[in-house]
Amino acid sequence: MADRIACQALRHKICTAAEAATHISSGNTVGMSGFTGSGYPKAVPTALAARIEAEHAAGRPFRVRIWTGASTGPELDGALAKADGIEFRLPYNSDPIARAKINAGEMDYFDMHLSQVAPMAWEGFLGPLDVAVIEVSGIRPDGALIPSSSVGNNKTWIDRADKVILEVNRWQDARLDGVHDVYYGTALPPARVPIPLVRPDDRIGEPYFRCDPGKIVAIVETDAPDRNLPFTPPDATARAIAGHLLEFFGHEVRRGRLPASLLPIQSGVGNIANAVLTGLVDSPFHDMTAFTEVIQDGMLDLLDSGRLRMASATGFSLSPEAAERLNANMGVYRTKMVLRPQEISNHPELVRRLGCLAMNGLIEADIYGNVNSTHVMGSRIQNGIGGSGDFARNAYISIFMTPSTAKGGAISAIVPQVAHVDHINQDVQVIVTEQGLADLRGLSPKQRARLIIEKCAHPDYRPMLADYYARALKGSYGLHAPSLPGEALSWHQRFMDRGTMRP
Ligand code: COA
Repeated sequence: MADRIACQALRHKICTAAEAATHISSGNTVGMSGFTGSGYPKAVPTALAARIEAEHAAGRPFRVRIWTGASTGPELDGALAKADGIEFRLPYNSDPIARAKINAGEMDYFDMHLSQVAPMAWEGFLGPLDVAVIEVSGIRPDGALIPSSSVGNNKTWIDRADKVILEVNRWQDARLDGVHDVYYGTALPPARVPIPLVRPDDRIGEPYFRCDPGKIVAIVETDAPDRNLPFTPPDATARAIAGHLLEFFGHEVRRGRLPASLLPIQSGVGNIANAVLTGLVDSPFHDMTAFTEVIQDGMLDLLDSGRLRMASATGFSLSPEAAERLNANMGVYRTKMVLRPQEISNHPELVRRLGCLAMNGLIEADIYGNVNSTHVMGSRIQNGIGGSGDFARNAYISIFMTPSTAKGGAISAIVPQVAHVDHINQDVQVIVTEQGLADLRGLSPKQRARLIIEKCAHPDYRPMLADYYARALKGSYGLHAPSLPGEALSWHQRFMDRGTMRP
C-alpha cells in the first residue's frame, strides 16, 4: 500500500476501520463519498454500524445524519440502516433496507436534485458537517488526494467537514489517476461566475482533491470492489423502447434538428436506460459524446464500438463483468472519460448550454405528461429524483421512458393523474413505452392527452383512459386540461384496495 499512500507525513494516520469509526459521535452529520454504487467507503461505515449496534445493545441511543453523493452500497447504507443508525439521509437512495426504513417512517429522507447538494451545503442550508468519510484511490507525496471511481460531492465534504477520514482502496485501478477534473471555481451568489465548460470533453479543473492535512484524523486501507450489480439483459420491452427512441433520433437528424453525432447524451439509471445505450451501438450515429451522471455497461459498449467518442460523468454504475472490463482496459478508457463533481456533471447551466438529450426512467406519467419518478402510489419512495430534474428541465430534448405497465400488468404506467409530481409537463417533451413514442413538443394539453393515450398506453388500459378523458371533456370545471378530480386518483386507490388498477 506504500505506493498508494505516498505522503510520508500522513502515514502515521493509518489505522483500522474500527479505530477510525471512533471519530464519529452520535448526532454527527457525516458526509460520505459514493455515487450509484461507485467510490463509496466500504470499511468505516460497517465498523460504525457494528459500534452503533453495540451502543444500542447497551441501551445507549446512537444515530447519525448521512449525506452522500447518491446511492452507495450494502456496506454503507445497508449496514447503517440495518443497525438503525441513520436518523436522516440525503440525497438519492436505492438501498432496499434504507428504503424500507424510510417507508416505515423510521428514517427521515430528504430527496433533492443532485446538482443542488453541494451548493446547498455551502449556502449553509443543510447545517454543519462534522465528519467526511471519503474513498480515494491514492494519496500523492504532496498530500493531494487521487479520487476514486466517483467524484460526487467529495470536494465539498472534504472542504466543509471538521474532520476527514480517508479510505484508500487498492481495488480501484491506479490508472484512474488523471481521469478526474475537480473544478474549484464555484462560488456563492453574488460572486458566482459562468462555468467555463463549452464541450463535454473540456477540462476546467484539476485531477486531485485538495485537503488540509490537519483535518485528516484517520486513514484506512481497503481492497474491496464497488457494488457492481448485474444488469438484466434487454428483454423485448426494453428493445422495443430502444427501437422507438432510435427511430425518433433518426427522424430528428433527417429533419435537421439534430446533428448526425446527436447532442451529448444523458442516460438515467436502470435497465431500460442501459438497453437504449446498447441499442445505440448498432445505430447510424457516430462521433457521439455523453454529458451524463453515470457511466453504465451500455456506455462502455458504446465507447468500445467507437460510436461514442467520450463520456463525461461523476461516477460509474457497472455490472461486475463491466467493472472488470473497465479495470482491465483502463489504459484506453482513461483517454475517453472525465469524472467531475456532481454539481458540474449535472449543472443546469451546462446541460442547457451543451443541449443534452436527457433520457430518464419513470414510475408513472399522466395523460398530460406530468411525470412521477419517485413515489409509488404517491407515498412510497422508490429511489429519489436523482439527477433527472437537473437534466429534464434544461435538456435540448427531455425524454422519459418506461414499460407501459408494472407489476405484471396490474399497474398502468399511464394514468389519468400522477399521484406525485417530480417533472411537470413543461419539462417533459417525449414519452416512450414499448407501445410507441409520443412527441409532445409544442402540443396543448388536450393534444398531449390524445397522443399519450394513443401512443404510450397499454392496450388493456387504453380504452379506460380514453373513456376517462371523454367524460372529463364533458364534466370538467374547465376545458384547458380536462380532469375529474374525484376520479383522477381512483386507479391508485383501486390498486391499494384490490391489488390492481383494472376495474
Ligand atoms: N407503480 C408501481 N411500481 C412501479 C411502477 C409503477 N407505475 N413502475 C415501476 N415500478 C417498480 C417496478 O415494479 C420495480 O419494482 P421491484 O424493484 O419491486 O421489481 C421498480 O419500480 C423499478 O422499476 P423497473 O421497471 O425495474 O425500472 P428501472 O430500473 O428502469 O427504474 C425508476 C425506474 C423510475 C425507479 C428509476 O429510473 C429511477 O429511480 N428514476 C429516478 C432517478 C433518475 O431518473 N435518475 C437518473 C438521473 S441521471
